[in-house]
Amino acid sequence: MSPNPLTLDTALSSFSDHWSPKIIAAVNGQHVKLAKFKGEFVWHAHAEADELFLVLDGKFTMEFRDRAVELGTGDMIVVPRGVEHRPVATCECSVLLIEPAGTVSTGDAEDDDRAGRGEWLVDRGPAPHAP
Ligand code: NI
Repeated sequence: MSPNPLTLDTALSSFSDHWSPKIIAAVNGQHVKLAKFKGEFVWHAHAEADELFLVLDGKFTMEFRDRAVELGTGDMIVVPRGVEHRPVATCECSVLLIEPAGTVSTGDAEDDDRAGRGEWLVDRGPAPHAP
């Protein structure tokens, strides 16, 4: 079966919740996700997953224990595995993430109700091969 394209703007307009990544593709063991950030996330690290963030619209700050990095539309950063980080967005920010399938958004942080592995964006129809 041939694949269907996905329009990022359309996918982004289909949800509005913050800190709740939506899976839009699975590629070679990685999940591509869309998320909207607003406010402060929780400090955490991913022991075995590098995490790529690409800002699609807006801006946010990626805080590390030793510095803070400002990211605007079109900017990207890869947070290496094991490095503590906390995204903070003063205004709503749309972000594309790439990380291994099954990665929990809050990493090693405990008791956070925002913890999740992401859910498939349902209005795109069934995924070709959701792992
Ligand atoms: Ni993370």
